[in-house]
Amino acid sequence: MDSIGPVGLQQREGAPGCSQEGLPCPSDSSELVLECLQQFKVTETQLQQIQASLLGSMEQALRGQATPASAVRMLPTYVGSTPHGTEQGDFVVLELGATGASLRVLWVTLMGTEGHRMEPQSQEFVIPPEVMLGPGQQLFDFAAHCLSEFLDALPMDKQGLQLGFSFSFPCHQTGLDRSTLISWTKGFRCSGVEGHDVVQLLRDAIERQGAYSIDVVAVVNDTVGTMMGCEPGVGPCEIGLVVDTGTNACYMEEARHVAVLDEDRGRVCISVEWGSFSDDGVLGPVLTTFDHALDRESLNPGAQRWFEKMIGGLYLGELVRLVLAHLAQRGVLFGGCTSPALLSRGSILLDHVAEMEDPLAGAARVHALLQDLGLSVGASDAELVQYVCAAVLTRAARLCAAALAAVLSRLQHSREQQMLQIAVATGGRVFERHPSFLSVLQKTVMLLAPQCDVSFIPSVDGGGRGVAMVTAVAARLAAHRRLLEETLAPFRLNHNQLAAVQAQMREAMVKGLRGEASSLRMLPTYVRATPDGTERGDFLALDLGGTNFRVLLVRVTAGGVKITSQVYSIPEDVAQGSGQQLFDRIVDCIVDFQQKQGLSGQSLPLGFTFSFPCRQLGLDQGILLNWTKGFSASDCEGQDVVCLLREAIGRRQAVELNVVAIVNDTVGTMMSCGYEDPRCEVGLIVGTGTNACYMEELRNVAAVAGDSGHMCINMEWGAFGDDGSLDLLRTCFDANVDQASINPGKQSFEKMISGMYLGEIVRHILLRLTSLGVLFRGQQTQRLQTRDIFKTKFLSEIESDSLALRQVRAILEDLGLPLTSDDALMVLEVCQAVSQRAAQLCGAGVAAVVEKIRENRGLEELTVSVGVDGTLYKLHPHFSGLVAATVRELAPRCEVTFLQSEDGSGKGAALVTAVACRLAQMARV
Ligand code: BG6
Ligand code: GLC
Ligand code: GLC
Repeated sequence: MDSIGPVGLQQREGAPGCSQEGLPCPSDSSELVLECLQQFKVTETQLQQIQASLLGSMEQALRGQATPASAVRMLPTYVGSTPHGTEQGDFVVLELGATGASLRVLWVTLMGTEGHRMEPQSQEFVIPPEVMLGPGQQLFDFAAHCLSEFLDALPMDKQGLQLGFSFSFPCHQTGLDRSTLISWTKGFRCSGVEGHDVVQLLRDAIERQGAYSIDVVAVVNDTVGTMMGCEPGVGPCEIGLVVDTGTNACYMEEARHVAVLDEDRGRVCISVEWGSFSDDGVLGPVLTTFDHALDRESLNPGAQRWFEKMIGGLYLGELVRLVLAHLAQRGVLFGGCTSPALLSRGSILLDHVAEMEDPLAGAARVHALLQDLGLSVGASDAELVQYVCAAVLTRAARLCAAALAAVLSRLQHSREQQMLQIAVATGGRVFERHPSFLSVLQKTVMLLAPQCDVSFIPSVDGGGRGVAMVTAVAARLAAHRRLLEETLAPFRLNHNQLAAVQAQMREAMVKGLRGEASSLRMLPTYVRATPDGTERGDFLALDLGGTNFRVLLVRVTAGGVKITSQVYSIPEDVAQGSGQQLFDRIVDCIVDFQQKQGLSGQSLPLGFTFSFPCRQLGLDQGILLNWTKGFSASDCEGQDVVCLLREAIGRRQAVELNVVAIVNDTVGTMMSCGYEDPRCEVGLIVGTGTNACYMEELRNVAAVAGDSGHMCINMEWGAFGDDGSLDLLRTCFDANVDQASINPGKQSFEKMISGMYLGEIVRHILLRLTSLGVLFRGQQTQRLQTRDIFKTKFLSEIESDSLALRQVRAILEDLGLPLTSDDALMVLEVCQAVSQRAAQLCGAGVAAVVEKIRENRGLEELTVSVGVDGTLYKLHPHFSGLVAATVRELAPRCEVTFLQSEDGSGKGAALVTAVACRLAQMARV
């Protein structure tokens, strides 16, 4: 051990370790001692200043403002509530860093609310000094070794062990089981640990050790363990205070005041880390020459941590030693003689101070201890040494009280309470060994925080139970996470699965084109070319089948296309009523639009975007094959939709309309985008429903005569998989959604992708997770049972990057789903999994289409554009990016540009109509 010189004085000549000059007489001695100890007095004003400065430092750190190294740290601990008492199970606790050079392993059994309390079993291991200062791996290996030694001796069942790690150093926690060491304190200085996750280091060491399979579930600071282990008394215990080797406190802060957390509800436990508090302004005047000497000799000189060095048990013995050495050298004690032991660092420990300071121990014990240090003890020395111990301890207790008072004022202020009634759990050897510490602390707190009624509750087992409590909660959360992952696993598709979808789609396309049995109908549209820009005229257009029904006036001039449109509603009872009612409603809307636009009496050519599967025999003929997307108007399937419209016009007599073309929305979108970009040869819709069309070689289309040129094919890919080919990918949630739909067994692909169904898939997953107890504390709400309550637009809102989790909660609470922040995060993950699968499936479909076009044309590389529309594609924050990424992955030889349609498909329908009119005119000429 290093020996250090006396404080402020040089050793004098004469007998080794002895002062030669005239020794003071005993009564002078006590005066000189008291004079020296004056330095340890901290006045009430100074304490108040320290309290105020600490409070300022705490609040600054809470606000997330950059704070100097001399400030407190205010580290969130991810513990959100004090124990409910319901926690149960067996837990292993490993404590490192609370009690200096020792490590403790405990076996804690929590009995829940019913059972009686069981005393934990524990074992303490001394950490060799070289391990405390050596490589980090060695320290963690030592810990893993102690763990297995302890477990070896236990008769318990050691399957599925769950461990709580009490690690009492300043750490940045990012979860209950993730914690990065900021810096070592209290005599530890192992290399390769600062800046690393200590949970991972422990897990690695346990694995290297290989004796037991132990799941490290939670990491906690000792203050948190102390608070959480406190038996709930009259009120909850919301402060944990530790004075052991080091000192620190934690308390329950309102989450909304913690800037680094994205949380506005509830409370979170904050570890103050007040040991680092070193404000020179308020502590400077209080620091003694002994404090400075101690700092110079410490492992972290200059790093200050003044506060910890004046209070923590690691330093109290050392301070006493420095004072005694100084007084001996001044000739005031021990006959003016020191001893090698007195001059050696670490020769007086906290326990010695406790014994010497204890009035009951009596002078004889003090004598004995001092003699053990090789000192010759004079008649009055023992009593004077007791003064020294008391002075050092009293100062520590008063400073600690100032810090606790700062926390109390913080709580009182943030809870806006006139009188704060609160319990403080206390732990650590300074409390255990020095009863006077607590009494001074209590008295001083009453003085500094008179508006607080504080009860101090000593921790019974050094916080082990509290660590087990946190571990129990963390284990429950981890189990929930596993269930969440299992539930979402079938939604996470890998490359091979997506490539298989692409291949199946490709095969179904070919079969459909050939007229063989296939879930893809591959319907010819009689659109043979994309616009060439020479189209002109005024046209009416209808757009039925998306979110909105629209009537439009489209003016195509040399200067561009001008659109005037109006949205009308088609109530659900009309969409699902009689066909006649539906088409009468459509004509009513057209008449209204014509009147408003001053077009009454004109018979403009009309293009009808009708977004349902139709078998076309020409441009103006479309037999509705079946309704999709929630429509079910009677007597329409199997009928020519253009005839149904013409009949309705006939019933209105007053109007004349010239229906020229019927167009699927995919085709309208492709044509609309094609007007701007001639490379646009694919149309894609991802909205209420989903579908795609593309330009196919006419020779491949069995249903239409002719071998040259192209024809746009409406794939009706929503029905892909209706033959069972997607069954391997479909989850039970897809089956639920399908069963509850108005067309069970139909539109399999659409039901996994489009806006009409994603919200429902999410709702079914949430129901399942609730029944598993993972969400909403396992309580089913009536709201969540309601069909369509979870709109697909919520997915877009919830997944929006700019929205914080608190807004996610607001959205869900509006739905009557009150949830915790853990719930909010899980709901977000559910939404992400569902929308990601949708986008990837859609991408696999697009990849099949563009690859087919490329191969049709015998090209090595294809450059092509896809015109896209639909609310899901346009509003969802990540959908379009995921589609594009999937296409890049599955069709690497195609360079695909996605163009979002700005004008809707009505413009495209008008352009198709314009082309038809131009061709008809040419035919007449
Ligand atoms: C619109 C088109 O912009 O998008 C419609 O004009 C199309 O024809 C619709 O059906 C698809 O999106 P959604 O989300 O409205 O179904
Ligand atoms: C030190 C540590 C802190 C711990 C305290 C008491 O101050 O930095 O995390 O709580 O000692 O052990
Ligand atoms: C449905 C329709 C289809 C339409 C798609 C997008 O799948 O059957 O025709 O294109 O929805 O609106």
